[in-house]
Amino acid sequence: MNPSATALPAPHPRSCLRPGPRPHPWLPAAALALLATLVLPARAADLARVASPDGSIVVILESQHEGRLAYRVERNGEATIAASRLGFLLGDGRLERNLELAGQSSRSFDQTWEQPWGERRFIRNHYNELRASFAEKPTGGRKDGRRFDVVFRVYDDGVGFRYEFPRQPAMDEVRIRQELTEFAVARPATAWWIPAFEWNREEYLYSRTPLSEVGTAQTPITLRTDRGLHIAIHEAALVDYAGMNLAKGDGGVLRAALTPGDDRGTAVVRAVPFATPWRTIQVGERAGDLAGSNLILNLNEPNRIGDVSWFKPAKYVGVWWSLHLELETWGTGPKHGATTANTKKYIDFAAENGFRGVLVEGWNPGWDGDWFANGWGFDFTRPTADFDLEGLAAYGAAKGVHLIGHHETACAVSHYERQLPAALDLYARNGVDVVKTGYVCDAGDIQRQDHAGGPVVREWHEGQWMSRHHLRVVEEAAKRRIAINAHEPIKDTGLRRTYPNWVSREGARGMEFNAWAQPPNPPGHEATLVFTRMLGGPMDFTPGIVSLKGRGGQRIESTLAKQLALYVVIYSPIQMVADLPEHYAQHRDAFQFIRDVAVDWEESLVLDGEVGDYVTFARKARGGGEWFLGSVTNEEARELQVPLSFLDPGRRYRAEIYRDGDGADWKTAPFDFVRETREVRSDDTLRLHLAAGGGQAIRFVPL
Ligand code: NOJ
Ligand code: CA
Repeated sequence: MNPSATALPAPHPRSCLRPGPRPHPWLPAAALALLATLVLPARAADLARVASPDGSIVVILESQHEGRLAYRVERNGEATIAASRLGFLLGDGRLERNLELAGQSSRSFDQTWEQPWGERRFIRNHYNELRASFAEKPTGGRKDGRRFDVVFRVYDDGVGFRYEFPRQPAMDEVRIRQELTEFAVARPATAWWIPAFEWNREEYLYSRTPLSEVGTAQTPITLRTDRGLHIAIHEAALVDYAGMNLAKGDGGVLRAALTPGDDRGTAVVRAVPFATPWRTIQVGERAGDLAGSNLILNLNEPNRIGDVSWFKPAKYVGVWWSLHLELETWGTGPKHGATTANTKKYIDFAAENGFRGVLVEGWNPGWDGDWFANGWGFDFTRPTADFDLEGLAAYGAAKGVHLIGHHETACAVSHYERQLPAALDLYARNGVDVVKTGYVCDAGDIQRQDHAGGPVVREWHEGQWMSRHHLRVVEEAAKRRIAINAHEPIKDTGLRRTYPNWVSREGARGMEFNAWAQPPNPPGHEATLVFTRMLGGPMDFTPGIVSLKGRGGQRIESTLAKQLALYVVIYSPIQMVADLPEHYAQHRDAFQFIRDVAVDWEESLVLDGEVGDYVTFARKARGGGEWFLGSVTNEEARELQVPLSFLDPGRRYRAEIYRDGDGADWKTAPFDFVRETREVRSDDTLRLHLAAGGGQAIRFVPL
């Protein structure tokens, strides 16, 4: 053992016993002690520890029997994550036993950085880091032990850790079949989660179950322990690697389940040196601590694409909802949505209301017939005959409106990649500076063809190959000053910090489910998303359906006021004004809030909330002193007291309030809606009434 690593007592001599059964992570201590004397191998020994800047969170690395490696997380002295193993199942055998600490170092970091756009302008990145280097004892046929580092960054609101494989003689490439990383949550908990590896990708309703009943889950997964502590497990900086899901391991712990790669069972192939994504554990007393945390962004690398002032956070409109209502079609014909005449109407509508973007889906050849099944038929380099791309771009430009492009691949991803440079060039020439991409197909059915005419193999939306694909699109787009909004994407892991032209994604059940799905999104859906999916980053949810009706009159489980609140609650720097212009004409009062609401923020505060129940945000607009408040609830009506202490002290504001009427209820009176104004100051407290399935939106204008 390296002498530099002896800050803590040397590991206990390893037992030669085979591992016994793993204890349940939250068995009482007495039972554990008894069990230990009976079946557990020799006591684990602590190797190293690191505390967060304020000392509240401590990570301890320990060596277990047979030289296995584990970490624990304590918060305020209490076990939060019990001993959880680290390691890999590699192409050349498990990398898990006979691990010796070869060195350790630590450092502190404290810097504040500025987001070019976002929920807040300044973010403090303050952590203590521990790097522990491990070497495998040469055993069996292996002369050189394999080496890797584990790096922990410990924040006051959580922990990130990753594996790094340094250059080494025994390995020039790593083939990862599975990660053995575990998360042994130390207390019984309630979990909010969606299943992994199911056909509809990330577009599932969240289940709320005891942690012990979680199946194979995607991340972020959010937990509330029996003591009320909120924990979220996710990852940061998913680059050239497979997305991590969580499955049940020995003793009920959550264990990494990497998204598979090719059919030889390898999830990740990387040349050495390389680092894995960060595995993240966010922790807070309040649900709002998770939603307000910057940990995921902080663990990503700084901006790599340079100046992005060309990207303008903005609202946009388009034929989208009408397509989902089946009033118009993506394909050409009498009901084609993306025609020159129809798009002009939307450009006029956008210009009249100060919206910057007009999204046109169905503008290119390939939609006619069964497009789901024939992504290889899409042409991204020319419009259909009835869509004058150049003329419309010029028509919009004269009014300050930009077309938003659309690249639906239907998962023929190699086909799309071949056209990508020309497709982006076409858009760049026409001032299209945001492109929505799409990957509609069942999970596991992405089509990859490495050489034209070669075999087509299937990939997963969250596999290593797709992680590379998305970054290729984002990098090619950045070269042309184009921003990307991916639907059916790989999950968001905060890469907008490194690639700030990757501005938004879908990656959950959005508004489209209210157009055609059974069941539609339930009233608690958005208050769940805020504390789960949204921990990854912005979502192109497409709010603002003021008609409250989907296809064939299907009811949306929301009040009118709640549709407005969603602009504040669900963060995205591009927000769709999704309903039909004629529907906004019928709800002029409500529409005024959508016209006024900001999309780029100086600061965002989660004032209150609980997972799946309700949430209240206050956000300060960038440029100018306006604040906005958004609050939404599930199927329960609520009265909330909101102190306005976030407002500038001593200043008077006109509060423009858009609220549920006293008799409102999403089922019986969804349009019972009140718009009123009041004068307020920072020492006032507002009482918010939220109807069942309701919400409230407020604009605070400094006087
Ligand atoms: C699914 C996307 O989520 C939706 O927004 C889009 O309209 C369709 N795919 C077609 O690309
Ligand atoms: Ca979708």
